[in-house]
Amino acid sequence: MKTQKPCVGILTSGGDCPGLNAVIRAAVLASERLGYSCIGFLRGFEGLVDPVEYMPLTPANTNGILTTGGTILGSTNRGQFSATVGENDRLSIDRGLLGSVARTVHQLGLSGLICIGGDGSLAIADQFHQFGIPVVGVPKTIDNDLGATAFTFGFDSAVSAATDALDRLRTTAASHERIMVLEVMGRHAGWIALHAGLAGGADVILIPEISWDFDAICQKIMNRESVGRRHTLIVVAEGATLPTGDLVCMAPTEVNEQVKLGGIGQIVAGEIAKRLDRQTRTVVLGHLQRGGSPTTFDRVLATEFGVLAVQLIQKGRFGEMVCYRPPEIESVPIASAIKLLSQVDPHGSAVQTGRGLGISFGDTG
Ligand code: F6P
Repeated sequence: MKTQKPCVGILTSGGDCPGLNAVIRAAVLASERLGYSCIGFLRGFEGLVDPVEYMPLTPANTNGILTTGGTILGSTNRGQFSATVGENDRLSIDRGLLGSVARTVHQLGLSGLICIGGDGSLAIADQFHQFGIPVVGVPKTIDNDLGATAFTFGFDSAVSAATDALDRLRTTAASHERIMVLEVMGRHAGWIALHAGLAGGADVILIPEISWDFDAICQKIMNRESVGRRHTLIVVAEGATLPTGDLVCMAPTEVNEQVKLGGIGQIVAGEIAKRLDRQTRTVVLGHLQRGGSPTTFDRVLATEFGVLAVQLIQKGRFGEMVCYRPPEIESVPIASAIKLLSQVDPHGSAVQTGRGLGISFGDTG
């Protein structure tokens, strides 16, 4: 009698990022070699339940997606799974909902489910694991703020887009002797601002991890002018708090939605213009840094993650998450990885390199 192949399920959850498709493609190819078929659930965790929505994933229909941005499976960072936070800020998914997921996994005969997502999505995957659903995790975020992995794919692509923006802003800033402020993403961590600032030759970098004030920024601009440099490039992370300690949000937050950050760049530019009577301009890079093709680094990292995720399923190592611990790709329990925030070390080498170059972090350091 012909037996049906064992099957691996895959889903992508949370904000998208370059490299998601590379993980999917790698997992499909690795599955094929290990004797599994693959299906992909649509719109993140939502596709797992009523109505269950999925598509077959094959080497043929994932051919060519290594280089494409976004996710062919779709994703969401809101919905019935992201909503439920219980005691002590712990995520607590309704047991009925967990039961529905378990039923889907059973009815489709899945050997394991690969959940590709950021901290919130991995917390959901951890709940699945505790409920007995065979799950493995793959970390992703452009913000690079997950502590259990040295890098997440998507980060390098985002830095590359932000650096390109700085390169472009430099020429127009110089032509008009203007102060340009580039606002980049980074909710809790300033990795994108820091790396793009170093790669793009920014003069001022403002990040959530270092308190800053307008006096220091204006002093830096005046110091530059005193030696004939009449344009200045400033890069600011969306999550950098104002000197008052406030975060800047661009829109009211809806119920069960994460705070929509944005607008700090405009405030920084406006205050500088007022204090120094100079021409300033602001660019909010926004989702341009989240879309598009992954860099070579992200393609390689995503590919290694995808292959190891399938191997974890084959070995029955459920509840684990792949991670990058240079030089190796390894795995750790998902439970130990969630809520482990990775932030820029203000005394670390990247910040010290910046200071060594004369970059201002808006403080007196
Ligand atoms: O978490 C990644 C991130 O890119 C943040 O830096 C940003 O604040 C957020 O996603 C925006 O997400 P969305 O626009 O999808 O709600």
